[in-house]
Amino acid sequence: MKIACIGTGFVGVVTSAVFAKLGHQVVGLDIDEAKIKSLSQGKVPFFEPDLEEILQETLASNNLSFTTSYQEAISQAEVVFIMVGTPSAPDGQADLKYVFAAAKDLAPYLQEKAIVVIKSTVPPGTNQKVAQIIQKLTSVQFTTASVPEFLKEGSAVHDTLHPDRVLIGATDPYTIEVLTKLHQPLTNKILVMKPESAQMAKYSANTYLAQRITFINQIANLCEKNGADVQEVIQGIGHDKRIGLHYWYPGLGYGGSCFPKDVKEIAAYSKSVGETDSLFIKIDELNENRIPRLMEKYNQLVGGFTGKTVAVLGLSFKPNTNDIREAPALKVIPWLIDHGAQVRATDPQAIEVARSHLPSQVTYFNDPYETAKTSHVLFHLIEWSDYSHLDFKRLAQLMHQPAYFIDTRNQYDPQLVQQHGFTYQGVGR
Ligand code: UDX
Repeated sequence: MKIACIGTGFVGVVTSAVFAKLGHQVVGLDIDEAKIKSLSQGKVPFFEPDLEEILQETLASNNLSFTTSYQEAISQAEVVFIMVGTPSAPDGQADLKYVFAAAKDLAPYLQEKAIVVIKSTVPPGTNQKVAQIIQKLTSVQFTTASVPEFLKEGSAVHDTLHPDRVLIGATDPYTIEVLTKLHQPLTNKILVMKPESAQMAKYSANTYLAQRITFINQIANLCEKNGADVQEVIQGIGHDKRIGLHYWYPGLGYGGSCFPKDVKEIAAYSKSVGETDSLFIKIDELNENRIPRLMEKYNQLVGGFTGKTVAVLGLSFKPNTNDIREAPALKVIPWLIDHGAQVRATDPQAIEVARSHLPSQVTYFNDPYETAKTSHVLFHLIEWSDYSHLDFKRLAQLMHQPAYFIDTRNQYDPQLVQQHGFTYQGVGR
């Protein structure tokens, strides 16, 4: 099949490479010339495990190419995916200007019977708007569909090759047949539904997961008041099959490019359709307030951060990515500096990206032990595997005494850490 992928951000590059690996002829399109040049040379402009290998393999097989020309990408394509960014508008709703611009630019080159698929996260009703834009600029017959993306950063290639399900939001039989055939090699869990349902399912999935994290963080707050251990509570409830043990580790709240934005979007969308009293507004509020609230608590624990040296392990928003969007470090580090601390920081992949977003006073090191040297407090912010077996004996020798270990991901046995003379502070335990 001949496929065009508009937008070479995270989802665009992964999707293009995976469809090319399945043997399709894929052209990736972006207006950013530097990105297209880099991708054409087999270089991914961000860190994502396994992506560069599959990109290079599919470029070499000539199944994949990149261009900045709409004409080149669209005029041959049977299926056109729109995967451009949808930044937040001032009212919190998704700003669809890039989606609409892509629709306008692709329209003149669309071939007869082409299928335009929206993969960007967009509110219900967007397909009709996109179809109207295209209709004005072409006389060919085309259809639109919604196939939302559920991949996670850090495991994006695996998630795309092995999705839990694929949603095909379409009503036209030919469109459903073509998109089903395209996705069949990836999974047999293909669910056909209305485009509006597919779009609502995407928002619902992300908001549900964000809500789940917010819920366990609320339970963690209570555990801190009464001596319970939230990790034991998770075991206690998770064996109930309706609840499950997965995907609710407590911490500093959810971050990344999707959850914070999608929760704000569904909250704003609810308001726009007259549902003013929504749970979504509260989830967003609780998550926004989480870090400031915990920082006050840590401030009391260590007797104030003024004059203290603090080591921070983990700058990305989660492990296996150098994406720092809504990363805890972006709130924690400025807070520490504002409260008089000196900050030393490290990350396996995100130092270069983080540097330009953090105060200039921060000093960076490549190694957790170098980072910890002379520190009074060590913040374990992100559960990179590089930090999963820290040598506490060595850390204790390098750090000022008394030393504090703040384990924001509950990665360590408190007793093990305390044995080495640290004051241990986890979340909800
Ligand atoms: C998420 C969705 O999982 C994915 O399906 C969607 O397509 C995009 O958004 P991603 O943002 O890459 O993916 O990361 P994810 O691993 O889901 O984590 C999101 C945030 O929640 C991170 O800040 C993570 O640390 C936090 N989180 C996750 C928790 O605090 N606790 C958890 O139990 C799980």
